[in-house]
Amino acid sequence: MRRHSIGRDSVVVVMGASSGIGRAAAHAFARRGARLVLAARSSSSLDDVAGECRARGAARVTTAPLDITDADAVADMIAATERAYGGIDVWVSASSVYGFSRFEESPAHMVRRILDVNLIGTMEAARLAIPVLRRRRGVMILVGSVFSELAAPYVVPYVTSKHGIAGFAKGLRLELRGQVDVCTVMPATIDTPIHQHAANHTGRKIRPLPPVVAPERVARAIVRLSRRPRRNRVVGRAQGVMVPIRRVLPGVVDAFTARYMELVGIRRSPQPPHDGTLHVPDPPSNTVEGGWRVWRRLWRGRRS
Ligand SMILES: NC(=O)c1ccc[n+]([C@@H]2O[C@H](COP(=O)([O-])OP(=O)(O)OC[C@H]3O[C@@H](n4cnc5c(N)ncnc54)[C@H](OP(=O)(O)O)[C@@H]3O)[C@@H](O)[C@H]2O)c1
Repeated sequence: MRRHSIGRDSVVVVMGASSGIGRAAAHAFARRGARLVLAARSSSSLDDVAGECRARGAARVTTAPLDITDADAVADMIAATERAYGGIDVWVSASSVYGFSRFEESPAHMVRRILDVNLIGTMEAARLAIPVLRRRRGVMILVGSVFSELAAPYVVPYVTSKHGIAGFAKGLRLELRGQVDVCTVMPATIDTPIHQHAANHTGRKIRPLPPVVAPERVARAIVRLSRRPRRNRVVGRAQGVMVPIRRVLPGVVDAFTARYMELVGIRRSPQPPHDGTLHVPDPPSNTVEGGWRVWRRLWRGRRS
């Protein structure tokens, strides 16, 4: 994998740019002066992110409101990007939906939608981007998860989709050797609104599994991968270390993550079932941070 320089001539497409990690990555590329194409479903959020990116120094910004499962819309966006910018150097794939439920009680539409967006939509969009990326020997960065390697109860379709991303990246990397650098970033728990966006059919409130890491750390890892591609980068050491440990002690790590999810991730307080942003986006909740970092919350509370 070769080094790339990211600057005012670089064209970066961020899928899932309206919120969380994608939004933080858009900011980070903007600071390097890149030309940006920002895609997600929420048009109003994308307009906000475009303004933030211009203020941070992006040479040019275009928004593309689309659903990643709409292959025609993705193809149109890629064609428009080629016409306007002449090509694509970096493809960041951060779109995703999330959902909590014991698997046998999961509504079929939730299972299907998580796989459609996180895996099939992501693969199909990547397939459409490959010929354009190849022309500039570009970089594709797929956002997986520590759940690309680990597992937990209550989030089986999501875990399945993220394991799928790991397999997809491994195979694609071999096919595209010397043509497009394919990387995965595997975040641990990150402080984004993903838990506010998640569907929840457990009957109980949910919360992220600590420790919770700043989204800017993932954004920095993504920019680093775009400059110096490598196969994988885990962000969030405390949970990330479970990945190599599980290769040696799978039973111990699986038992731990199952108990951790049951005791910490699923709370006692009741929560009526809902579909979160599975089918419909929620622009007001689209922000970089989810407000889950305890020390940060306490510190802000002391100051206010
Ligand atoms: N936060 C974590 O703890 C964590 C940990 C590991 C991995 N990850 C991964 O990191 C990536 C980003 O997640 P996040 O934490 O930043 O979550 P997030 O804040 O909920 O952002 C998800 C993004 O995906 C977009 N999106 C959702 N459905 C879409 C669709 N059908 N078509 C197009 N865009 C769609 C959302 O925008 P719209 O709703 O406007 O479409 C949003 O921009 C995901 O791949 C996630 O699996 C997150």
